[in-house]
Parts: sequence; C-alpha cells; structure tokens
Amino acid sequence: MTIADLVQQMSKAVASSDPQAAVRAEMETLKGDLAGIAKMLDYLPGTGGNANQAFFRAPNLSLLKVSFPNGRRTPPHNHGTWANILVLSGSEKNTLYRRNADETLERDHEIVLTPGSLVTIPANMAHVAECLGDEPAIGLHVYGANVLGIDRLMWDPDTLQAHPLDWRKYEPLALRASAMNGAP
Ligand SMILES: [Fe+2]
Repeated sequence: MTIADLVQQMSKAVASSDPQAAVRAEMETLKGDLAGIAKMLDYLPGTGGNANQAFFRAPNLSLLKVSFPNGRRTPPHNHGTWANILVLSGSEKNTLYRRNADETLERDHEIVLTPGSLVTIPANMAHVAECLGDEPAIGLHVYGANVLGIDRLMWDPDTLQAHPLDWRKYEPLALRASAMNGAP
C-alpha cells in the first residue's frame, strides 16, 4: 500500500451514506498490516495531531498520523466532526465525555487502546487522549472534516470551561493536562 492508495480508499469510503461506519470498515482491513502502515507514515514528524502530522485534508476528510509521546495528555477537546482512531504502536488511554447544551462535560467512559484497537468517536462527544507506557502511542486518525480548519472546542483541564480551540493557546492547556494524575 502507498499513501495514495490509503487516501483513495478513505476518500471512497467517506463518500458513502454513512461515512464514519464506511471508514471504520476500511480501517478494519488495515489491522493486518499495522507495522506496514506505521512504516509508511514514518516520514511524518511532530506530535499530538499538529499540522505536520496531517497527510491529507479535504472538506469532508482528514488523515493524520498522531503521535503522543510518553507523559503526554491532551486537554479535553472535540474534533468538530466524527473521529476514527486505529492504534499502530504503543498504548493510549481515551477518556470520552458527553457534551451538555451549555458545553459543560460529563465523563462517559474510558478505553485503553493497544496496537490494532479501533475507536470511533461521534461528533457530539469530546475526549482526552494520553500515552500509556514508555513508547509513543502512534495512531492513524481519520476525521470527517478538515479537522485543522473547522471550528472546534477545547476545555481547560482544571476548570472544564469550554474555549474555542486556538492552537496558540492549546499547548499550555496540554502541558497542564499532562501534569495531572489523570484525565479530569
Ligand atoms: Fe482528539
């Protein structure tokens, strides 16, 4: 498989009547070659889903390799769309939150992801992702929009107050979240 093949496979799936489910089904087929996918995406630098990690963006589809190093935890955030995550190597914990009408959060459930785990996050939920263990958690993340261009929210990890996601203000929140004992 090449990057172009993967982009084509996901672009076709996202054009279906249920894009998130169709993309999930395609991602299931990648589980047999996690090492091959990881090797193919090895050229992408960066951490935490920043712009360097995106390898395709369209109005209805974003493809990113996301790498969370040891000790890294995100603040709660949403994606402005659905998200499917396939873990390629390492281990990460996801804590999922329901969003109330006033954008306060209610903790829903948590999941530990290991290589081959595939998680689907609906558009109306928020999450915290964190690396477990010494090795970086690396995943293929697929989103149903231009995830680096759409309006999104981030929540202060201490107060759980919602703010528009602004990458210039995100890092201090991520550093505070990473210093906590667990997801808020
Ligand atoms: Fe996320």
